[in-house]
Amino acid sequence: MNVASPMPAAPVPDAPILEAPILEAQRVSKRFGRAASLLERARRVHPPVICALDEVSLAIRPGETFSIVGESGSGKSTLARCLTALHACDGGRVLYRGRDLAQMPPAERRRFHRRVQMVFQNPLAALNPRMTVSEMLREALRVHDICPADQVQAQMRALLERVRLPVSVLDRRPHQFSGGQLQRIAMARALSVRPEIIVADEVVSALDVSVQAQIVNLLITLQDELGLAIVFIAHDLRLVRHISHRVAVMYRGTLVEFGDSEALFTQPLHPYTRLLVGSAPTLQPGHVHAHAHTPTGGTIAEVAATGCVFRARCPDAMPRCAAEAPGLRPIEAGRAVACHLFPDTAHPAAADTVTP
Ligand SMILES: Nc1ncnc2c1ncn2[C@@H]1O[C@H](COP(=O)(O)OP(=O)(O)O)[C@@H](O)[C@H]1O
Ligand SMILES: [Mg+2]
Repeated sequence: MNVASPMPAAPVPDAPILEAPILEAQRVSKRFGRAASLLERARRVHPPVICALDEVSLAIRPGETFSIVGESGSGKSTLARCLTALHACDGGRVLYRGRDLAQMPPAERRRFHRRVQMVFQNPLAALNPRMTVSEMLREALRVHDICPADQVQAQMRALLERVRLPVSVLDRRPHQFSGGQLQRIAMARALSVRPEIIVADEVVSALDVSVQAQIVNLLITLQDELGLAIVFIAHDLRLVRHISHRVAVMYRGTLVEFGDSEALFTQPLHPYTRLLVGSAPTLQPGHVHAHAHTPTGGTIAEVAATGCVFRARCPDAMPRCAAEAPGLRPIEAGRAVACHLFPDTAHPAAADTVTP
């Protein structure tokens, strides 16, 4: 493989046959406030409340790669944290196998935390710096009672083999590894508890392009070998197109479009998706930052309460866009867009697919 290419060498597994979702967000909202500063208190002004997620709905099916894209600050990590119960949602609900996380009894919630694992952009912050790899994996295996004590050693070796690391890493600590190796260790730890979903939040964003390809290839291989569902969060569209079955596009806390990966990339509908796809660089050496070509917008706090979140940057904005937020509307089976350019009467073939 060309080392400068971020493209995965491994083939993407076929799209899974439609099955009931394993993880679902239903109109999930999340707001963040902050404590008032001294100045704000003196002036008696309230600090702004940030709407990081505004009624986002999506559903992850077993064995699929579902990517969530959008520029920095669009709410991707907040969504990931709501999906993995690291954040409680302020509105809406998250369902795991049809069961509301907020209503789960402790034993069921523990099982959820085992089956739905998250891997972060910065593994050095996520891994305990004082623990050796062996201690980390041993702890994960023991806490969730994955295997009897006499099989822990063999299990750890098998995990390292899965993520293509030598056994010699067992006695080392996080600061002794490169970024790519750390992501492999984070993945080994996530896999140790036998998850069915991995939520990978910008796991390759901090890595060199050649290392990115290796880690993405590893994810694809693991998905194929273990039947994992992967929620792949990224701001870099180059990778997403080639590894995803389905893609959701977020803009300022709102899901603006979703669809099958190929359809979304070849025929982007939402003006923001068109901008993103149009501004993604080709695979020429030297063109490495997709987001460098993306015009930047304001922050979430600047968004007015009504209307379309994208209207200030939209080349097609109409008066209606300021007055009324466009709901997500089905366009065809498995495809929806939140934009007034499209009729908001449900397409009969797509009426039941408004949730991705
Ligand atoms: N813990 C938090 N406290 C306050 N604001 C937050 C917190 N986490 C995220 N935000 C805000 O929510 C918005 C969405 O952030 P985030 O989900 O991290 O976006 P992304 O992952 O797409 O870059 C941003 O404006 C961010 O500043
Ligand atoms: Mg993020």
